Amino acid sequence: QIGRIAQQLGTPAYLVGGAVRDLFLKRYAPDLDVAVEGDTRMLAEACKAQIHGAHYQFHAQFGTAILEDSQGVALDLAQCRLEHYPAPAALPEVHPGNIHADLARRDFTVNAMAIRLDPQHFGILLDPYDGQADLQAGLLRTLHSRSFLDDPTRILRGLRFATRFQMDLAPECHQQLKQALQADIFTQLSGARLWRELRYLLELEALPVALSLLTAWKLWFLLRPTPPASNTMPTLLQRGQEQIQWLSAQFPEEPLAIFIPMLTLIWQDVTLRDIQHYLDRWPVPDRSQLLADLRVLPGLPDTLLKAKRPSQKANIWQGVSVAGILAAMAIYADNPTLVDSARLYLQVQRRLPSPFNGQELQTLGLKAGPSLGKTLKLLREAQLDGEISNKENAQQWLIKQGILP
Ligand code: CTP
Repeated sequence: QIGRIAQQLGTPAYLVGGAVRDLFLKRYAPDLDVAVEGDTRMLAEACKAQIHGAHYQFHAQFGTAILEDSQGVALDLAQCRLEHYPAPAALPEVHPGNIHADLARRDFTVNAMAIRLDPQHFGILLDPYDGQADLQAGLLRTLHSRSFLDDPTRILRGLRFATRFQMDLAPECHQQLKQALQADIFTQLSGARLWRELRYLLELEALPVALSLLTAWKLWFLLRPTPPASNTMPTLLQRGQEQIQWLSAQFPEEPLAIFIPMLTLIWQDVTLRDIQHYLDRWPVPDRSQLLADLRVLPGLPDTLLKAKRPSQKANIWQGVSVAGILAAMAIYADNPTLVDSARLYLQVQRRLPSPFNGQELQTLGLKAGPSLGKTLKLLREAQLDGEISNKENAQQWLIKQGILP
């Protein structure tokens, strides 16, 4: 219908980018991008008026609109545009353009195809760079030789596509990659843009497979000063992914940024000084906790061995983030005592409901303040060590300790 409405308005619309590629790969396309040779807002408004139940959100800053029908199927509408890069690795200058200009600004030939949506020519493929042939040959080919210099994020996008779709760079693009690296192009990219791409990489399901491409494309320096010394990294990351899956099966509602345990594992044998150098450039969330985890991880088996009481072990785990605990479970997968202790903490110990809360302790006669916090901590430890299990024996215990008269 959108093609018909676009035609009525005289603003032709095309399905573009990843959705066309995924169609040829017979893969599910999560995002449907539509390029419009004209005003997206006008088209979205006309769709809302003519399609029962349709509504849209317009983003004035980018001139884009998300159009959704009554079934919840969403289309991203964007005006066709022409891009010009004023300097290497800078954000492009953008002007309205036609579909040919819009395809010419894209990263790889396989992503530079469009399908017409107007009823007269519905389904006709625009493939000016032979993307379909490259898709069949499994080749990622840029549209011109300066592509990686214009936008180095394309190198990491390429790495992701190569991993996900088992593709390789076309021979001339290996050469372009070499030139871009010789020009130190990544130093000109902002830390925020680089981090965004790295985060997508770390979240890849096929991340363990992507590691061999990081080696082949000589890109390890983006993540660590040197490539990992042994070839155990893929196994380590795979174990990390398994632990993440275990946790989300146990606690489906628990939010976890997958990239943090993955980064922890990639950095587990890197010096803190080198790590700090990367963290200074990227806007990584919770960086001080990440550093604290990395500091604790190497000595963890020994520290836990010295801890005799369950409460002592739980206190050690409490100082580590959930992401760090998952990383520890992957690193020390062949230490069942450590893994069991981590699981016990995540499943039970960290969520034990306290027999008394602060309010209740005050009703029992304790004063508010730091000593109340201390009592709560003592109660928690006694509970972890099996000394108390309910309000009654907790009160007895407090009397025995001389905390309550
Ligand atoms: N694109 C590009 N260069 C970029 C970012 C995006 O050329 N630096 C173009 C590509 O044509 C791409 C489309 O914009 O296909 C949509 O980008 P995005 O949604 O990031 O990727 P997809 O190709 O849709 O892949 P995915 O399946 O990961 O969503």
